[in-house]
Amino acid sequence: MLEKFSKWKASKESPASPSTPIEQMKVPKHVAIIMDGNGRWAKNKGLPRVAGHREGMKVINKIVRKANELGVEVLSLYAFSTENWKRPKTEVDFLLRLPERFLSIELPKLIEENVQVRLMGSTENLPDHTLKAVTKAVESTKNNTGLILNFALNYGSRYEISEAVKRIARDVEAGVLSDADIDDELISSYLMTSELRDPDLLIRTSGEIRLSNFMLWQLAYSEFWFTDILWPDFSEEHFIEAIRVYQNRGRRYGGV
Ligand code: FPP
Repeated sequence: MLEKFSKWKASKESPASPSTPIEQMKVPKHVAIIMDGNGRWAKNKGLPRVAGHREGMKVINKIVRKANELGVEVLSLYAFSTENWKRPKTEVDFLLRLPERFLSIELPKLIEENVQVRLMGSTENLPDHTLKAVTKAVESTKNNTGLILNFALNYGSRYEISEAVKRIARDVEAGVLSDADIDDELISSYLMTSELRDPDLLIRTSGEIRLSNFMLWQLAYSEFWFTDILWPDFSEEHFIEAIRVYQNRGRRYGGV
């Protein structure tokens, strides 16, 4: 077995302390959110679509704070998909300015609150200003030990899986791996989320009931919670409601 792979596997173990209260134990450790409905929120108010994105950005810090407070370990946010390039250039430009706008205000607080910022997605095609702002945040929070705030930016799950398959094929060809080594855990270790556990809970706002190419592999056994609330109206109370619903679900992972 590959040394790199064994280390990866060991790092995924996180034993619960027997003294941890039940409620705390049942808080989803990884929550993934598809933040949808910004455009409709703006349209309902007679505003341009970008006003919805600006408002949506403001919701993020409230949810980050609440997640951190509740003991969530990882919060993955779908901020820009590989398909979002199809939008009008002005909207794409606006969306790709949001990370630096957000971080220019929030980074000092994120550092203070022990949050670790991560980037999940292709760095190709991202404008320098976006990459620079996110890289600075990743770099300056890399020694923090609290909530992992994982921004999916220029992310698409099929792209991620295709890239993993290419790297696995190269490693088989180079003799680093044999085809017998290929199983679901090995594939997970080649994904952009290799250092993260799979999401326990997926939240999607705005009434759309689909995954839109988000973490397709990682969400295999996650609980899904869909709400009609548009993302700019999403609050800490909605987040808590999602967690309550999650806590009442029985997760069987294919068993009985
Ligand atoms: C989907 O709503 C939302 C997006 C494509 C962008 C989400 C981005 C944010 C909430 C802010 C990101 C901020 C940072 C700091 C990264 P939509 O535009 O598709 O809404 P619609 O379906 O109503 O048109």
